[in-house]
Amino acid sequence: MTLDVVLGLQWGDEGKGKIVDVLAEKYPVIARFQGGPNAGHSLHFEGNKIVLHTVPSGVFRPNATNIIGNGVVLDPIIFKGECEAIIKMGVPVRERLVISKKAHLILPTHRIIDAAQEAAKGASKIGSTLKGITPTYVDKIGRAGLRVGDILATDFVSRYNTLKEQHIGYLRQFDFEYDPMQNEKEWLEAVEYLRSFKIVESEYMVNELLDSGKQVLAEGAQGLMLDIDFGSYPFVTSSSTACAGASIGLGVSPKRVGKVFGIFKAYCTRVGSGPFPTEIFDETGEELRSRGFEFGATTGRPRRTGWLDLVALKYAIMINGVTDLIMMKSDVLDTFDRVKVATSYIIDGKKSSQVPYDSSSEVTPVYREFPGWKRDLTGVRQEGELPEEFLSYVKFIEQETGVPIKIISIGPDRDQTIIR
Ligand code: GDP
Ligand code: IMO
Ligand code: MG
Repeated sequence: MTLDVVLGLQWGDEGKGKIVDVLAEKYPVIARFQGGPNAGHSLHFEGNKIVLHTVPSGVFRPNATNIIGNGVVLDPIIFKGECEAIIKMGVPVRERLVISKKAHLILPTHRIIDAAQEAAKGASKIGSTLKGITPTYVDKIGRAGLRVGDILATDFVSRYNTLKEQHIGYLRQFDFEYDPMQNEKEWLEAVEYLRSFKIVESEYMVNELLDSGKQVLAEGAQGLMLDIDFGSYPFVTSSSTACAGASIGLGVSPKRVGKVFGIFKAYCTRVGSGPFPTEIFDETGEELRSRGFEFGATTGRPRRTGWLDLVALKYAIMINGVTDLIMMKSDVLDTFDRVKVATSYIIDGKKSSQVPYDSSSEVTPVYREFPGWKRDLTGVRQEGELPEEFLSYVKFIEQETGVPIKIISIGPDRDQTIIR
């Protein structure tokens, strides 16, 4: 069977959590492959609302096995809080979840380093979620990190102390006040809690599941425009959010990848710093924010808002090899008289259809306008009920990208989903 992949094609928060929860009905295995608690994946179903940070979004489907893959970075404190909330909902998370031994641990000092580095950057800060993501991946690549499997070793605490001391040494160069004991007790308790979960060699498990005929759905975090290689560097996260990251982050050959579901909002948002060519600064941007409730699921920060950017979308489709598009939050545009889409950029007086290398480039988007549909889409359940103006917007995106839009989302609930 194949490894199918769900990926964000913009700057994150496209609605991956909702779609994985919808698709998980048909997939016996759901696996996160990168990122960590910088992610906030929202699920709405049967009157429940929950935001997941580390646990895959298939956890509410009784028959699904959920895997936290080797490519993920895990903060035991956040993980524990999340699992306790899921257990309160009556879900036996320990039975439905396994964690890779090779996933890396976020230490309290990784979070402190993240905050110190951001503070030192001043106005040029990345706008990190301050969850310690970058310092943890730096330690992974630097071959100094601690992995989930290490918590099973008898000398774990001493290895933790060694790494913590290295971090404290590194922090001396910053003019940054912190408490080195901050969260340590809580973290060590959460490590104990983590020990009660199934900690496995997940690369063997996922390949065996595929061999035995089980379809696996990989759940991406963030989005292509935040990818460490292809995002607007340096305003990116520290992992490979692209399709190829799913192979590395789970230990599955690229040959086994099947469908690549690319998720995008019918407009754009971004949280944190960095280029955003189609950003809207007037009341239209405010209307997108309030109608879309565009506030970060992890940090609560207001998200920046703008029109759909086809230059960036086509780039993300190319890098990921997207086979099926999924358009989210279409209902947010219901009230607009006109809807705009950027089809190219003007850079240095020249027209361009490429994302520029330099994240400080002055980019002016060239827009195409569409009449708004001015109808409430949130109650629509059949494709045939969709207004003509909306369908021409959909058709235009399909024509421009050459990829079919297979799912249209018209509200946050599991049921507000039109499969075409
Ligand atoms: P993720 O990080 O990609 O999983 O996305 P987030 O959960 O961070 O952000 C998406 C937000 O949009 C959440 O609040 C969802 O509940 C909400 N949402 C998802 N799909 C739709 C939709 O089609 N319409 C509306 N109005 N909200 C949606
Ligand atoms: P999900 O999975 C939106 C952004 C941060 C910041 C940059 C780097 O919910 O879509 P980091 O903490 O990773 O060092 O922050 O990336 N960012 C996200 N933005 N959605 C996310 O995840 C994000 N994860 C990180 O705002 O600009
Ligand atoms: Mg999110």
